Amino acid sequence: MNKVDLNGRVAVITGGARGIGYATAERFLKSGASVAIWDINEERAQQAAAELGKLGKVTVNTVELTDEAAVQAAAAETLSVHGKIDIAVNNAGITGGNGTTWELDPKVWFDVINVNLYGPYLVCRAVVPHMLTSGYGRIVNIASVAGKEGNPNASHYSASKAGLIGLTKSLGKELATKNIMVNCVTPAASQTEQFAQMTQAHIDYMASKIPMGRFVLPEEIAAMIAWLSSEDCSFTTAGVTALTRMLLLASSLPSDLVRLINAAFDAE
Ligand SMILES: NC(=O)c1ccc[n+]([C@@H]2O[C@H](COP(=O)([O-])OP(=O)(O)OC[C@H]3O[C@@H](n4cnc5c(N)ncnc54)[C@H](O)[C@@H]3O)[C@@H](O)[C@H]2O)c1
Repeated sequence: MNKVDLNGRVAVITGGARGIGYATAERFLKSGASVAIWDINEERAQQAAAELGKLGKVTVNTVELTDEAAVQAAAAETLSVHGKIDIAVNNAGITGGNGTTWELDPKVWFDVINVNLYGPYLVCRAVVPHMLTSGYGRIVNIASVAGKEGNPNASHYSASKAGLIGLTKSLGKELATKNIMVNCVTPAASQTEQFAQMTQAHIDYMASKIPMGRFVLPEEIAAMIAWLSSEDCSFTTAGVTALTRMLLLASSLPSDLVRLINAAFDAE
């Protein structure tokens, strides 16, 4: 593992109890940061904190991230316990299952947008004023390749992640001159417990789109998040960093055209 310097930094990681959030917490701690896990699953978050506590300072806030008052309270408590918030990783998310757009239940559709988009907005709203006062901040939003491509049978999830990309770009531009970088990553499918929320057909569909021929590991996503959360990330903001590539392998087309189309897929 390469060292990314997060020494002395305090990071909020939403959904840090398991999966990609847990891997991010581990990577951050190994890089010298203290971590505040904000998660609705108290038992798993406490278990994560007990395991990760060997690596550094870890605290837990049991937060429903769509509850504005709860998010504000978590920010206040984190500031009181850790003294500051340098980094916020908006990682918590749900898939809402799979179905065609016209079959998906409106309540499920709303819940996915609520958790995956409104939640990160509330977290940004809670931490940015503090970052503005301290003159330093790094925010990383965990979107998805689904937000760029629009996966069939996941319009709620794809729309929520496309919205998160939009939020990243807007906020990044608002804060561009304030030493607060706001970026997002768009991972391909990663074999976490989130897979239990999807149909096997959908998992197979996602797998078929990954040129690497395997799922991305949570640790690989965490490595990218760690760099985007570091002081070294000093000029990249309002950006979308892919953790895959939807390569077009069309041998019948002129190679320049294929290159152009592939570049458009990666365009922000
Ligand atoms: N796993 C993948 O294939 C994949 C791919 C691309 C992007 N992502 C995104 O990465 C992020 C993490 O995914 P994961 O696979 O680790 O998921 P996961 O389901 O394993 O973990 C999600 C965590 O978020 C927490 N959480 C969910 N809703 C919450 C809420 N309302 N309030 C507070 N906490 C809440 C859960 O308790 C859990 O600990 C998600 O945003 C997901 O959409 C995942």
